[in-house]
Parts: sequence; structure tokens; C-alpha cells
Amino acid sequence: MSDTQFAKVAVLGAGTMGAGIAQVCAQAGSQVVLQDITEEFVAKGLQRVAAFLQKGVDRGKVTEETRAQVLARITTTVDRVEAAREADLVVEAVPEKLELKNGLFRELAGIVSDTCVLGSNTSSLSLVKVFDGVANPARCIGMHFFNPVPLMKLLELVRTETTSEETIDAVTNYARQLGKEPIVVKDSPGFASSRLGVCLGLEAIRMLESGVASAEDIDKAMVLGYGHPMGPLKLTDLVGLDVRLAIADYLRTELNLAGFEAPELMRKMVADGKLGKKSGQGFYAW
Ligand SMILES: NC(=O)c1ccc[n+]([C@@H]2O[C@H](COP(=O)([O-])OP(=O)(O)OC[C@H]3O[C@@H](n4cnc5c(N)ncnc54)[C@H](O)[C@@H]3O)[C@@H](O)[C@H]2O)c1
Repeated sequence: MSDTQFAKVAVLGAGTMGAGIAQVCAQAGSQVVLQDITEEFVAKGLQRVAAFLQKGVDRGKVTEETRAQVLARITTTVDRVEAAREADLVVEAVPEKLELKNGLFRELAGIVSDTCVLGSNTSSLSLVKVFDGVANPARCIGMHFFNPVPLMKLLELVRTETTSEETIDAVTNYARQLGKEPIVVKDSPGFASSRLGVCLGLEAIRMLESGVASAEDIDKAMVLGYGHPMGPLKLTDLVGLDVRLAIADYLRTELNLAGFEAPELMRKMVADGKLGKKSGQGFYAW
């Protein structure tokens, strides 16, 4: 038996984030069911976890025994009802589409136990909308993990007006068991992390656009002057200019703040296919 906060966890979506979330939950001692829409996707997700742990073994950071134990705690399925039925916690990490996430929660809320906590890993959507129409909204919460999940320390918990203190306490406790440092943020556009991070990135692009300094020097200002691990332009390249542009447009509308107006340079680069690392060219050549 496990003495973790949530003994049984269902993770919906076995992509970049879902695989990482399944891994950290299993490392904390939970039994995890990892679900996706095809056998191929769940197998890929599990493979990702196995490869990450194997790297740890190769580097002497994870024992062979731990690797085997963690993998033994993860099972996979393509049936979300089967995945969620017995769960104490369901975390969704499916694509960032409101209707998809809302539909899953509406369906699963009627299947899981009354005490099961429902968590969404959305990085930008309004949690009130994600959980709209879901029975017992007191148990619903945003659980915003960061990529790569096993390495990033932050877990941003997003509370709505109906999230109960009990839910927040339970998830905060579990975040620590996962080795994460939780912060609790009100349900508001961009939460704390994306709102600040995108704001800095947009201003850096505006500075580049108006010739204040080169990309390298703007990044150096933050890295060497402010102790950031990476400059805002390089980070935008890693996240993807298109991804950040979509978030900027969303925040501009939702927050109605001029600071979130995307710079022309950014729009042009996206239109030209200069999306950052994934396209080989952004503010840097990759
Ligand atoms: N990638 C990041 O850096 C990052 C960081 C924080 C949060 N997020 C958020 O995490 C979520 C997932 O992002 P990702 O990068 O892992 O995406 P991804 O595309 O790597 O993975 C999504 C997975 O969900 C699966 N899926 C689609 N429909 C499904 C369904 N109905 N049921 C179950 N699985 C389904 C897909 O097959 C895919 O494997 C998004 O909401 C995203 O905004 C992403």
C-alpha cells in the first residue's frame, strides 16, 4: 500500500506532459493509469518514461530497483472510463482545446468517486470554463506542470472560486510528495507564470525591433544581470513563437492591457515560418 496523498492516479493524455506527470506520480508511490486515444500513443508515452528513467540509471542518479518499481506502478489503457473509475486523482494533459477538456471532465465527473480530485494541466485556459457544468466543482483545480515535468520544480495550482480548501490542501500536500514547490494562484488569464513570462518575452521582442540591443545582448542582460537561467528571446525560441503569439493574443483580449499587444516583428516571423527551435530559425539559428 502506498502512503501518498493520492494512492491511485489517472493521467489522461500520454504526450509530452502526460508522460512526465505519470512518471512523477509513480515516483511518489502512486499507482498510475496512463490513458490516450490509441495503443500507439500510450506505448510511446510509457517509452518516454522508461527512457527518462534509463538515462537516470546510466548517470548513476536512479537505481535499477527504483527504475523497475516506478515502471511497475504505471499501467496503460485507451479506455478513459476504466482509467478514471477507481482514481483518487484524475489529471488531464490532453491538447489545449476547451471543448475537449470540458467534455472529458463532464463525462468523468459522473464516473469517479465523490472525493476524487479533478486536475487540469491547461497552461492558459480559464479553469471556470474547463470545469463548466462539472458536478461537485469543489474538487476541481488547475495543476499546471512545467516541461520537462520530472525536472521542473514549479507546480502552479490554480483555484477557482468554488475550489475547496480541502482540495487545495490535498493537492498542495501531493505536490510536495512529487518533489515540486507549489504556488496557489487565482483563476485569471495566464495565471502567474505565463502572464509574467510572456510579458517579459514581448518586451524583449519590442526592444529588438526598435534596435535597443542585439538578441544576444538583450538575453545577456537578463541572464547575467538578473540571474535568469535563460534569456527571454532564447526562451521564446524554445517555446515556439507561434505558441507564444497565441498566448499573447489571448492575454491581450482577456486582460485588456496594451503590454500584451504582440509586436509586428513577432507576427512577421510567425508568418514567415520562423517559429524558433522547432523550425530551425527564430531569434537564433538552431
Ligand atoms: N508542452 C508544454 O511545454 C506544456 C507545459 C505546460 C502545460 N502544457 C499543457 O499540457 C497539455 C498537453 O500538452 P502536451 O504538450 O503534452 O501535448 P501533446 O500533444 O504532447 O500530448 C497530448 C496528448 O493527448 C492525447 N489526446 C488527444 N485527445 C485525447 C483524449 N480525448 N483523451 C486522451 N488523450 C487524448 C494526444 O493523443 C496526445 O498524446 C496542454 O493543455 C498544454 O497546454 C504543455
